[in-house]
Amino acid sequence: MHTRDAPDAAALPGARATCISEETALVRVVVRGFGGVEQMELVEEPTPVPGAGQVVVRLTSIGLNHADLMARKGEYRLYSGDPPFTPGLEGGGVVESVGEGVDTVRAGDRVVLTPEAPRRTTRSNTCGTYRSHYLLPADKVFAAPANLPDEALGGLWLPFLTAYGCLVWRQQLREGQFVAIPAASSSVGLAAAQVARGCGAIPIGMTTSPSKIDRLRAMPEAPFEHFIATRNADGSDADWYHEVRRLTHGKGVDVFFDPVASGFFLDTEIRSVANYGTIWVYGLLGQPGKVDVTPLIRKHASIRGWVLGEIMDAGLDTVHGACREILDQIAAGAYRLPIGGTFPLAEVGRAHEEMERGRHIGKLVLIP
Ligand SMILES: NC(=O)c1ccc[n+]([C@@H]2O[C@H](COP(=O)([O-])OP(=O)(O)OC[C@H]3O[C@@H](n4cnc5c(N)ncnc54)[C@H](OP(=O)(O)O)[C@@H]3O)[C@@H](O)[C@H]2O)c1
Repeated sequence: MHTRDAPDAAALPGARATCISEETALVRVVVRGFGGVEQMELVEEPTPVPGAGQVVVRLTSIGLNHADLMARKGEYRLYSGDPPFTPGLEGGGVVESVGEGVDTVRAGDRVVLTPEAPRRTTRSNTCGTYRSHYLLPADKVFAAPANLPDEALGGLWLPFLTAYGCLVWRQQLREGQFVAIPAASSSVGLAAAQVARGCGAIPIGMTTSPSKIDRLRAMPEAPFEHFIATRNADGSDADWYHEVRRLTHGKGVDVFFDPVASGFFLDTEIRSVANYGTIWVYGLLGQPGKVDVTPLIRKHASIRGWVLGEIMDAGLDTVHGACREILDQIAAGAYRLPIGGTFPLAEVGRAHEEMERGRHIGKLVLIP
């Protein structure tokens, strides 16, 4: 999916990839080879000078994503290409300098990079956001809402656009519908709960970590109506089918928004989905196993895949329209990004390890 236009400096009109100031150091993470966190290295480069129509953004926030971990390991080559490459799919910060002809933003403005800005091209796999400064066209940034903290500027799109794109743009979620959201403590799961509430739907948070439920209940960013623990305290799978039936008054769940969806988990979803319901699969967290799909026939229900690339492929008007709606909701205080942890960019390896442990609640962010 990550093959869209990217800020490949050498390919942009007015770009001056070789014309760089030697005064300030730019830092960038490079993955030298597929493998463990030891493959990531911080390199210094001179800060770029923006060409005509370009801006340089000093990043204050870089969202960490499972896709970055998969890319590092060599499990997501569409994203990474061959090493060496720079990971990172999202970012935001403060405009440091602007090139000739730029009048839409000024130095000092706080901005969010558009979701398509850091996508890899066939020419460049060094355009990821794991870096201190980002050179890109001026029309590839959105003005940041004043109430969005600096550390959250770079972590919006993977959680909110993934949830909004699926539940609003594709599913057209309706008032009163039950939406079950596995990985409730994940950044995407928390965004999905807020998006579902915005539609008047009833979000049910499902978590593999019973110990997280009390913490989630206390968070305004986790507006779930109900919670279900899908694992027992000893780590074994819980049979949560009857709990879903009880919470939905025997009807079942209208929509599953699920990054686990495999084996026993998917089997139970199929049993728990309502007539005409939909199971949206958007991640690969679960373990493969036997699944009985026959209840789908009787219920006229469906399983569909979802990837952020679907709304990106719909064109800039659509994807930027969705982004603006999300930014408006943030400005109004209806959507909030919960930060689950921040790490200095220099400690990127520790950040990857923490994401893999899965103890966090909310978005993990790198701070250059
Ligand atoms: N399709 C797309 O376009 C798209 C876009 C963005 C992200 N994603 C995917 O969405 C998922 C969540 O991303 P994120 O950045 O929000 O991650 P995250 O914040 O790191 O959340 C990970 C959470 O997932 C749950 N989890 C982990 N392993 C699990 C397993 N084996 N079985 C069940 N649940 C498990 C845990 O939550 P609990 O403790 O609450 O269970 C864990 O804390 C990832 O799989 C990611 O690749 C897909």
